[in-house]
Amino acid sequence: MNDSRPADVAAQRCSEADDLLRQNKPVEALKALDQALEADRDCARAIIGITMIAERLTVTKYSKHFDRLILHCLQSPHGNPEALTNPAGHLLQLKYGLPDSQSRLTNSVRTESGLEGLRKDGLLITYLVTTINRNLTLESFLQSVRTEIWHRFTQGRLSGEWQGLIAALAVQAHNNEYIWDISESEREWLDATAEQLERLEGEITEATATLFLVFAMYRDPWELSKLRQRLRERSADRWSPALRFAVDRTIGKRARQIQLVPSIPRLSAAENPTSGSVRQMYEANPYPRWLHVTPALRQVDASYRLIAQYPHLGPLPKSEGPMQILMPGIGTGRLAVWAAQRYHHVQITAVDLSIQSLAYGKYMAESYGISNIDFRQGDLLTLEGQYERIECIGVLHHLENPEAGFERLVSCLKQGGVIQIMLYAEAARRDIWRLRTRLGLSHTNMSFDEIRRIRARILRDDGDLTAFNGLARRPDFHSTSGFRDLILHVQESTFTINRLRRMIEAADMRFIGFEFASSQVMSMFGESEAEQRYRKAYPDERTLSSLSNWEAIEASHPNLFGNYTFWCQRP
Ligand SMILES: C[S@@+](CC[C@H](N)C(=O)[O-])C[C@H]1O[C@@H](n2cnc3c(N)ncnc32)[C@H](O)[C@@H]1O
Repeated sequence: MNDSRPADVAAQRCSEADDLLRQNKPVEALKALDQALEADRDCARAIIGITMIAERLTVTKYSKHFDRLILHCLQSPHGNPEALTNPAGHLLQLKYGLPDSQSRLTNSVRTESGLEGLRKDGLLITYLVTTINRNLTLESFLQSVRTEIWHRFTQGRLSGEWQGLIAALAVQAHNNEYIWDISESEREWLDATAEQLERLEGEITEATATLFLVFAMYRDPWELSKLRQRLRERSADRWSPALRFAVDRTIGKRARQIQLVPSIPRLSAAENPTSGSVRQMYEANPYPRWLHVTPALRQVDASYRLIAQYPHLGPLPKSEGPMQILMPGIGTGRLAVWAAQRYHHVQITAVDLSIQSLAYGKYMAESYGISNIDFRQGDLLTLEGQYERIECIGVLHHLENPEAGFERLVSCLKQGGVIQIMLYAEAARRDIWRLRTRLGLSHTNMSFDEIRRIRARILRDDGDLTAFNGLARRPDFHSTSGFRDLILHVQESTFTINRLRRMIEAADMRFIGFEFASSQVMSMFGESEAEQRYRKAYPDERTLSSLSNWEAIEASHPNLFGNYTFWCQRP
């Protein structure tokens, strides 16, 4: 008789999967994790493991079983929809037989039964509401579905049963910040409908609910201030679940974020002029647009991984209370929430120029029940205080003088304290600079419409900017704030290892090492190409921390770094 508890069986299968991964057998590991879920549907380890493997496997054939597995992971609180975006998008592409190019609605889907299928597709609906789609074929397909729904609506052929799919498309549009292209006739209808919605009086009927949802598949209903007010005053009790969900995601959530603005203290009014234009950009487009952080299985000491990864690190500062971590340029707070969930006994100060970004972060932190992050508005150039650790990711290259920003941050570190920085690598930004030159971009603010049009010129086969469509492989290409941050930034500079070295030396800091793994997960899949090259070229320098060695490697392999993420220590 087998009397093992389901949780024990699941744990056993997970351990087998770990072994199989170490032997580089991801398909077999996936099977073991699948069995773990059969024993225990909520096994967090199995869900995290499946997500990790699915992120790296290329599926070539659609299977119902894999569909159910991915759906389960997308819906689980332990799931990570961001990591599942590519595999789930690819699976949907296979499911609907979409070719590997920009596709249009195929004939089989155009039929009533085809569209019926979409309406009831749990994976599709969940995918739309939990991710920001990055699959261009799917984007094109979904645009066609949207147009078909719009046609049916304008011809009076759409019943209330469609609201679920329409609401999911509206939430996807909200997630990607309305970046999908719109035809001229759709635009005209939207302009007229915006006026109609603003004039609406009385209770929300099924017909007005559908009108709202169809509009929200294309345009941000937040723009309609009178409607927004009216919806917030009305009781949602009698609305359909689809309408309630879409209104909450597109209007309610944003309203709750804005309410948090007055509670965020301002550090100092002084602001450098470049910081002023950078702030304006991020006030209009808080970045990054993140929807979810996978909860940690358990909390660890914040120094633990650092010491394991860089054994040559000098002694770290000792503190009585929680470790004080400063995160300047935190944006919408994703990395602070990630750290607060994972690190034991820390207090995080999260600073940014943009109050709207901070409000997004504070809202998300509260929704995860996190209370050890202090969100503060201010310019990092005016920061003071003494911290044990500073993490500053993707920020300094947006300063007029990044080196001055680095020095300022270093002055806020205790002796022995560590700082993590991420900066753009020159080689990885060349295509973007070429595109900017081609567009003749000056430091102007671009409207949403212009952004959509430029993106469509890059994507269309006959577009004049098709040569740049490799940019679509970058996740930021698929949301408006991401696109602006990636391509249309008002202030950015790039680095080489040589410039890094000079900056670090001038600030009297000790370089500890580059960080190649974007998460702990990556390290299970072996060392990066850069690390392997270093070890081969300099087998005796085992700390991988000589910047002149790295400079030599980069000279012969200029595209090795997508960006530079590294740690330094204050001696
Ligand atoms: C590309 S975003 C990165 C956000 C976040 N670090 C992340 O990686 O998720 C850059 C952020 O830096 C902020 N920033 C730029 N210059 C700053 C400065 N001088 N002081 C404080 N924040 C700044 C911007 O407002 C923006 O939110």
